[in-house]
Amino acid sequence: MKIILATSNKGKVKEIQKSFEKFEIVPFSEVLKPFDIEENADSFKENAIIKAKAVYEALGDKNLIVLSDDSGISVPILGNEPGVRSARYTGENATAKDNLYKLIYELKKRGIKRTPAFYTAAIALATKEGVFSVHGWMYGEVIDEARGDNGFGYDPMFIPEGFDKTLGELDESVKKEFSHRSKALRLAKRLIG
Ligand code: IMP
Repeated sequence: MKIILATSNKGKVKEIQKSFEKFEIVPFSEVLKPFDIEENADSFKENAIIKAKAVYEALGDKNLIVLSDDSGISVPILGNEPGVRSARYTGENATAKDNLYKLIYELKKRGIKRTPAFYTAAIALATKEGVFSVHGWMYGEVIDEARGDNGFGYDPMFIPEGFDKTLGELDESVKKEFSHRSKALRLAKRLIG
């Protein structure tokens, strides 16, 4: 079965491809001219639905399935920031590194070495039967430095519950087993059947 991904974030595409090994996964940039999708809602779920619907409508083939992921990291001591603004924490053209170092800076500024944090992933599916959404979460802590190169985004500063290393240092199999995205993808798979 073919699934079009409404994302071109390389880190997400790689993780989704690994979780959906039996499916043909095609990032939308391979089948459509790139276009901007306004992700201006204030929940992960609504943003995921906006993306999935936009790509589904642009494709114009009712039989395709479009899968989107809207995700981010929330730090309760910072009022759950950056949350839905994770990808744009330092501005519209922010790089993943800019955002990572801004979050580290926000902790350092307050003298926080380590504090609880969690990742959220909302996955939306646009299909001819309608639009569906599911969620997954991963809890842990963020630290005031970046360690390791695995994963992407904020992973070098995130230590998952039950581990003593960051996702940047841990083997990729840890994310495949326990991540917010993997949990949401497992539920999405059950919807696709
Ligand atoms: P989105 O493309 O608007 O959903 O942005 C998601 C942003 O959240 C990414 O650019 C990352 O900064 C962050 N993020 C989401 N999931 C992860 C993850 O699994 N690891 C690290 N950062 C993540």
